Amino acid sequence: MHPMLNIAVRAARNAGDLIQRSADNIDRLTINQKSKYDYASEVDYQAEREIIRVIRNAYPEHAILAEESGEHEGNDYVWVIDPLDGTTNFLHGFPQYSVSIALKVKGKIELGVIYDPGRDELFTAERGGGAMLNNRRIRVARQASLQGALLGTGFPFRSEEHLDDYLAMFRSLCAATSGIRRPGSAALDLAYVAAGRLDGFWEIGLKEWDMAAGVLLIQEAGGVVTDFSFNSHYLQSGNIIAGNPKMHQLIYQHIEPHVTDKLK
Ligand code: IPD
Ligand code: CA
Ligand code: CA
Repeated sequence: MHPMLNIAVRAARNAGDLIQRSADNIDRLTINQKSKYDYASEVDYQAEREIIRVIRNAYPEHAILAEESGEHEGNDYVWVIDPLDGTTNFLHGFPQYSVSIALKVKGKIELGVIYDPGRDELFTAERGGGAMLNNRRIRVARQASLQGALLGTGFPFRSEEHLDDYLAMFRSLCAATSGIRRPGSAALDLAYVAAGRLDGFWEIGLKEWDMAAGVLLIQEAGGVVTDFSFNSHYLQSGNIIAGNPKMHQLIYQHIEPHVTDKLK
């Protein structure tokens, strides 16, 4: 394993342990309302501090982009961190949340780690080295039709202006597939696409830290990721479609008719 992946795994596991230790004391946590639908608990901040401590200890010259503390200056190596993806789930005792850490070098995602501390599932990927779940190789699903497919998605609950477009996409895909799930941790949803548990995924308005590790996992597991214009600007736009090559194309066909200018 690449030494930097080792560090990312250590950081993710430490953060995950910290999150799990607080899972039984949710009622006692201090919660900060960042905006109307956006919360961060003291656990989000503690987990982020621990991840940054582990990374900076090993690589003090690297830069960091972290959800809660923003940008920390450094060289061309940028660690992209979501210390707790699925905070709303966590705060309700709904056991679907994760830690997500990726490393970008000169703008390219080189490694990714997503850790589900509740199930002790560790998803890892290195560019060119494949994708793993608990050290075993994973691949995207072989599904080749929407009929019988299980998709994942996220609701644009923070941006009402996208709700009508989203619901039109949902209506179209809902009628064509076996089922759609909204588990509530985008990073874990992407990891599930990489592992073949979901046949595809789409969401509007994600942030870079929700997606970076999951994107590499899917690519290394044989899948395809694009934005809503079939391009690779998903980290910038936050709009993402993912699946194996065939599923990706089929999902895109249902989304494309509802992509208004503000979603391009
Ligand atoms: C959220 C989750 C959720 C997605 C939201 C994200 P957070 O991340 O990934 O699935 O739908 O858009 O903000 O706030 O829990 O880190
Ligand atoms: Ca997130
Ligand atoms: Ca978060």
